[in-house]
Amino acid sequence: MTKKKLIAGNWKMNGGLAANEALLRALLAGLGQPSADVAVCAPAPYLAQLQGLLAGGPIGWGAQDLSAHEQGAYTGEVSAAMLKDFGCRYAIVGHSERRQYHGETDATVAAKAQRALAAGITPIVCVGETLVEREAEQTEAVVKRQLAAVIHAVAHCTSEIVVAYEPVWAIGTGQTATPEQAQQVHAVLRAQLAAATHQAERVHILYGGSMNAANAASLLAQPDIDGGLIGGASLKAPDFLRIIAAAH
Ligand code: 13P
Repeated sequence: MTKKKLIAGNWKMNGGLAANEALLRALLAGLGQPSADVAVCAPAPYLAQLQGLLAGGPIGWGAQDLSAHEQGAYTGEVSAAMLKDFGCRYAIVGHSERRQYHGETDATVAAKAQRALAAGITPIVCVGETLVEREAEQTEAVVKRQLAAVIHAVAHCTSEIVVAYEPVWAIGTGQTATPEQAQQVHAVLRAQLAAATHQAERVHILYGGSMNAANAASLLAQPDIDGGLIGGASLKAPDFLRIIAAAH
C-alpha cells in the first residue's frame, strides 16, 4: 500500500512573530503542489499565528508538546483541547529533549498520546536510543519499550498515531543514521505496530535526526521510512522545501 509521506518541521524553541511569518510565506510561495503532506510544529504562543497564516492551505500545523492532564490546576501547561481550539492537527509527544531535560517517562508520554487522540489531534510519538544505548546494542529494546507504553495506552487507536524514530545521537549533531540503520529500526517498529493493529501499514513512521536537503532522498527511499521530522533544516525555507520535494 502506498501512502503519502509526511514531512513535519519541529521548530523547537526558535522563531518569533516576524521570522515565522517570513518563513511561512516563503514555504507557501515555494511549495507548489507537494506530493507529501506537510506540517510545522511551533512553540505554543505562535499557534494562533499559524492558524491565521495557514488555515485552508496546504501546510498543517501542530504543537511540540501537550499536557498529560485534561484541565485544571497545572500552571504553565497547555491542554489538548486548547491546541484543538487553534486548529492543531498534530502534537509531538515524547521528544527526546523532553525525555532528557524534563524527565518525561514512558508513562507520561503514553498519557500525552492518549490526551491528544481523545481531542482529535494526531500524536507524533518520538522514540530513539542514546549513543550509549546503541553501543550497548540496546537500540531495539529501548525503542520497543518506548513504543510499547504508547500502544498499551492507546490500544485500538494505535493505527491513528504517527511514530518518529529519532536516534538521540543524530539530533542536532549533523550525524545522520544511515538509511540502512534507520530502515532496520523502522522495520522493528513496523513489526511491533503490526502485532497491535492490522492497520500497521497505515501508520507513518518518520525518521528524525539531522535530516537535510542532501540526505533526505536516500532516507525517504527506504521501504519503512514514511517521512521526516526535521529540526534545524525546517527553519530555512529553501532547505525544508528541498526535503519536501524529495518526498514522493
Ligand atoms: P535536527 O533535524 O535538528 O537534528 O532535529 C531533529 C529533531 O529533533 C526533530 O524533532
